[in-house]
Amino acid sequence: MLQSINPTQTKSWAALSKHFSAMADVHMRQLFSEDPKRFEKFTIQFNDILIDYSKNRISEETIKLLLSLAEECQLKEAIDLMFSGEAINQTEKRAVLHTALRNQSNKPILVDGEDVMPEIKAALSKMKAFANKVTAGKWIGYTRKPITQIVNIGIGGSDLGPVMVTEALKNYNTFGIETYFVSNVDGTHISEVLKKVNAEETLFMIASKTFTTQETMTNAHTAKTWFLSQGGNQTDIAKHFIAISTNQESVVDFGIDPDNMFVFWDWVGGRYSLWSSIGLSIACSIGYDNFEQLLIGAFEMDEHFQQTPFEKNAPVILALLSIWYNNFFGADSEAILPYDQYMHRFAAYFQQGNMESNGKSVDRSGQKINYQTGPIVWGEPGTNGQHAFYQLIHQGTKLVPCDFIAPAISQNPIGNHHSILLSNFFAQTEALMNGKSYDEVFNELTETGNSETEIQKIAPFKVFEGNKPSNSILVKKLKPKTLGSLIALYEHKIFVQGIIWNIYSFDQWGVELGKALASKILSELQDKTPVQNHDSSTNGLINTFKKMI
Ligand code: F6P
Repeated sequence: MLQSINPTQTKSWAALSKHFSAMADVHMRQLFSEDPKRFEKFTIQFNDILIDYSKNRISEETIKLLLSLAEECQLKEAIDLMFSGEAINQTEKRAVLHTALRNQSNKPILVDGEDVMPEIKAALSKMKAFANKVTAGKWIGYTRKPITQIVNIGIGGSDLGPVMVTEALKNYNTFGIETYFVSNVDGTHISEVLKKVNAEETLFMIASKTFTTQETMTNAHTAKTWFLSQGGNQTDIAKHFIAISTNQESVVDFGIDPDNMFVFWDWVGGRYSLWSSIGLSIACSIGYDNFEQLLIGAFEMDEHFQQTPFEKNAPVILALLSIWYNNFFGADSEAILPYDQYMHRFAAYFQQGNMESNGKSVDRSGQKINYQTGPIVWGEPGTNGQHAFYQLIHQGTKLVPCDFIAPAISQNPIGNHHSILLSNFFAQTEALMNGKSYDEVFNELTETGNSETEIQKIAPFKVFEGNKPSNSILVKKLKPKTLGSLIALYEHKIFVQGIIWNIYSFDQWGVELGKALASKILSELQDKTPVQNHDSSTNGLINTFKKMI
């Protein structure tokens, strides 16, 4: 069982608070000039991934104190509990075993005394056989044409992971399978996708752990009605609809043959489910072998996370740095900035990953928390972001720690695009760290012939304070295995944060209230009768809507 330890009551927290006073005004420029070995000291090499965290407002002492915080919060014990299949999702009484889905060892993993590995292997074999059939053009539709288009219908974790990975590994889709994703209940989403696909060659994957999610079920029924209107009949549904779920009864009620159901289990959290059957759209688009490489990459990161001492443990270090800024510097957000267009949904994926996991304000004893927990996670690919929001990161009043991620080798080496991209990747973190002093600005303006009066007027706007923290994650090439490791790196970072913040990271009760209210309001929208049972704003909005339509 996970212990409840208030991190702010630990000795390390008190020591960190004291240490923060000493570090708050120290500039990284000074730290770099004092220590020529800073890069060597603050980097971790994991396979072909280099993590440079030297451009952070830390000293060796900071890391030492953060590591002892991890120890006092019993992180090691918590990691062992998760991997061993303990029900650490205590509010839902469930184990947390997305790591078992990618387990490449022969070690059994027990849930309630039963080894789950045989079931996982059987599910993977079924996925493999199916994906191989689809990619080989052997899954045939109702007019004997092979399936060439896949529409994954799901939302949240049943959408974001498959979207992010199929986009990130688009270059590995050599099978001519087009993959579409429908998540939003806004009819526009499915309508626009249905305009692009052809029923004879389309396979709908209904991806929902619960098979009750309103958005997904509404879209799934619309897809079925559309399919039947295009010439397919009830029997043809078996060739064109498959389900990925834990809920067989509802799958059968929907009309999907249980043979066409791909299972997973309640110990796989929605936002951690891309490694399960939820990844079927990934396997059908990049091929099963590449999907397996993704799993292997994640497994290698799992091994690193479990076995590496914390001072060289990548997820632990990234999580501790995030805690340092979140809880001591008061930074309330962090940005993920991939310099790789293929990774354009990576930040969105971990926005759910982190914010749905660590957006909690009650601790593991059920007490209201009086310190900061999960950060706001956001980001866009570079260099686009540079021309949008980097201004605030460089010169705004908020501290935004950033993760810069880039591949050394481009998968589309055209002209000098990649050198330009990477020069920006290196330049941004350097600029964020160094800034630009008044003297530098003064000299620059003098050289370009400005008078002293002009310089005094304009210089303050051109000064960059610098001292803005960043991690640089340089990977050799974005291969399926590398992506698997990167995803697992961030997953474990979220886990470490949750353990230290003394919260439960694997439930999401907060999304329930809105869902319940929406279904009540839905019934009120059926006729024109004005409503009076809400607050005046909600009544006013609903009644105006009723008059508008
Ligand atoms: O947003 C809440 C949530 O439960 C997510 O955690 C989950 O990924 C999503 O809804 C979809 O749920 P399901 O797969 O059951 O349709």
